[in-house]
Amino acid sequence: MMARYRAAGRCIAALVGLGAGALATAYAGGLPVAPHSIALPSSSRVFPGDGPGAQAANGFCLMCHSYGMVATQPALDKGQWVAEIAKMKDDFKAPIPDAEVQLLASYLADLQAAR
Ligand code: HEC
Repeated sequence: MMARYRAAGRCIAALVGLGAGALATAYAGGLPVAPHSIALPSSSRVFPGDGPGAQAANGFCLMCHSYGMVATQPALDKGQWVAEIAKMKDDFKAPIPDAEVQLLASYLADLQAAR
């Protein structure tokens, strides 16, 4: 019984080896790969104001988002922004210091309320 499994294993290993060999041959022959360039959207808009909230938002949100992306979200209250920022930190590994979360949430809620 074991011998048969071992034989099957060797057979699969040989097939995998053949496949890798064929791939290596294809690469050696040169795949039709050409360089491409793409233009990513860019934005020079920043969070308005020069207080600590705006500075924190510009420092900790724009590394991943445009201002427009954040500003056009449905209005959230401060508590909802705290949860949203926690999601950025926990799920998306945003390097936002805990000490900045309340400040950011207040700023973002006020920003939307002022619209
Ligand atoms: C490390 C990158 C990163 C940082 C920094 C970051 N985010 Fe995000 N954010 C994401 C990702 C990834 C998504 C999900 C995007 C998607 O679904 O297209 C997202 C989605 C969002 C959304 C859409 C709603 C949702 O929950 O998906 C909002 C609003 C948002 N971020 C706000 C912020 C704010 C405000 C900040 C700054 C305090 C921030 N983000 C910082 C990565 C980041």
